[in-house]
Amino acid sequence: MAILEELKWRYATKKMNGQIVPQDKIDYILESARLAPSSSGLQPYRIFVISNRNKLQEIKENVFKDFPFNQGQINDCSHLLVWASWDNYTPERIRKTLLNTSRQRGLPDLSSEDYQKRLWSFFEPKGDEWHKNHCAKQAYISFGMAMVAAAEQKVDATPMEGFNFNKMDKILGLKKLGLKSIVSLPLGYRDEEGDWLIKLQKVRTPKDEFITVIA
Ligand SMILES: Cc1cc2nc3c(=O)[nH]c(=O)nc-3n(C[C@H](O)[C@H](O)[C@H](O)COP(=O)(O)O)c2cc1C
Repeated sequence: MAILEELKWRYATKKMNGQIVPQDKIDYILESARLAPSSSGLQPYRIFVISNRNKLQEIKENVFKDFPFNQGQINDCSHLLVWASWDNYTPERIRKTLLNTSRQRGLPDLSSEDYQKRLWSFFEPKGDEWHKNHCAKQAYISFGMAMVAAAEQKVDATPMEGFNFNKMDKILGLKKLGLKSIVSLPLGYRDEEGDWLIKLQKVRTPKDEFITVIA
């Protein structure tokens, strides 16, 4: 039951208190994100961890400023995690990832060659837009796992995609890495006094409307 209690405890924290999250907890959350499953194990995304106060200020002022909500979590969080996914699949990216898998498993370099070819023959005709969306979908799985891990560590986390992706990409230098920012997660601790959301009930779609059982 523990995980359900933690999921009820977590909420999209609107105001954090500026307290720093210990590095072992950050590492735990990042490792949970790294362990997320992905289609064909390609992990077509990377995570950027920002704790530098000047950089956070620059991000807050440039990347989050155009949004109707305050997005003040960027100022008072401890760390900001940003998921950035591959802008597309390429034979080289697939080869590099699957080669790493073979080597870590002690298998010959050529062991995944057929699979690489089959994967690319599936991906190639789909086009860039499909590639980009598919990569982003994989990133969201990792993002979800990080949120659960944060809750388990009693670290507050706010899922946030209300930001200017192009400006984030620019500040983090993502274009030259072939990456695009997708979603972000400030980590920190809730401001018990100052957060207007803290006392409001968590509301979800009723179970009978949400779940369809076909027995
Ligand atoms: C993908 C995603 C993007 C979100 N973007 C923002 C955001 O930019 N700013 C914000 O304050 N909350 C954001 N939220 C928080 C949601 O509004 C919140 O998770 C939802 O209302 C459910 O409430 P809870 O997380 O407190 O249970 C986002 C949530 C998700 C999952």
